[in-house]
Amino acid sequence: MAKRVLVTGGAGFIGSHQVEALLQRGYDVVAFDSLTMGKRDWVPAKAELVEGDIRDLEACRRAMKGCTGVFHLAAMSRSAASLDNVDICTSNNIIGTQHVLTAAREEGVSKVIYAGSSTYYGNQKPPHKEDMAPDFLNFYGLSKYVGEEYCRLFDKTYNVPCNVMRYFNVYGPRLSGEGAYALVMTIFLKQLRAGKPLTIHGEGLQSRDFIHVRDVARANILAFESPLHGRTYNVGSGTAVTVKELANRISTNQIHEDRRAGDAEITLADISRIKEELGWSPEISFEDGMKELLQEQETAAQQAKAGAV
Ligand SMILES: NC(=O)c1ccc[n+]([C@@H]2O[C@H](COP(=O)([O-])OP(=O)(O)OC[C@H]3O[C@@H](n4cnc5c(N)ncnc54)[C@H](O)[C@@H]3O)[C@@H](O)[C@H]2O)c1
Repeated sequence: MAKRVLVTGGAGFIGSHQVEALLQRGYDVVAFDSLTMGKRDWVPAKAELVEGDIRDLEACRRAMKGCTGVFHLAAMSRSAASLDNVDICTSNNIIGTQHVLTAAREEGVSKVIYAGSSTYYGNQKPPHKEDMAPDFLNFYGLSKYVGEEYCRLFDKTYNVPCNVMRYFNVYGPRLSGEGAYALVMTIFLKQLRAGKPLTIHGEGLQSRDFIHVRDVARANILAFESPLHGRTYNVGSGTAVTVKELANRISTNQIHEDRRAGDAEITLADISRIKEELGWSPEISFEDGMKELLQEQETAAQQAKAGAV
């Protein structure tokens, strides 16, 4: 019988790709999501969708029944917005994570994969290595890190095997400007769809390590199936693209505004550990990933136009 696994946040951007990748690999998948950000339609029909909230321990327990592993992706996932939403960060990303781990422990799962974040590294000089000390620029980064530490302690003290994956800037199909991650690319795509100029904060010399969502889903599965646990891995491309370069790929219609508070100057992953220990490297180039994404935007715009006629 296929192994049953739980994906919290399984109706979200990364979560829905995770569900797809797991189904393709032959797992039975339960997607657990409050649908605050995620969309019912994004969950593949072959998966079971359980609507619920990770802040509710009983709901976590019910969703976890019969599961042998968990991919914990549900979170308050907006970095800049967290400066005005400390309580939401704490309840979703810390208490929610505690609940998922508690239910995982009670169910005796074989592995928990935790969605960590490159916001851990803040404004430190890149490349960012897993063992660096943290530099938090907002409460999102701090709360995601506290979740990491809960995973490590559950691993160490309760024998709940966990691996922490620190994603850099994830992009790919279904990335929307409606919330997900307050990622510069989502904002640019939203502006493109609305026919507005792309807003570049400062000179646009800040740079980001973009990693394709299907590469992230694959890294999570490798970390899940590996016998290694209690490990932390960067999941990035190991290359940086400036905001200005990104904007140029999307549209020449651009304006410049003042820098925003709480934004990292440069994100750039050192991916030597994940390459060495899990044999993972990114497979989708930025060029190919962007082509696919812009094609998706164009198709959506055409469909919207056809619907309006
Ligand atoms: N997208 C990125 O670039 C990126 C980078 C680093 C880390 N992450 C992390 O990856 C994970 C997935 O991010 P994403 O970009 O897919 O965001 P997302 O907002 O699309 O997905 C999060 C999902 O969790 C659900 N959710 C939120 N609160 C919940 C709750 N209390 N109970 C149940 N479900 C809840 C939302 O409805 C949504 O479907 C998050 O943990 C995020 O912190 C994302």
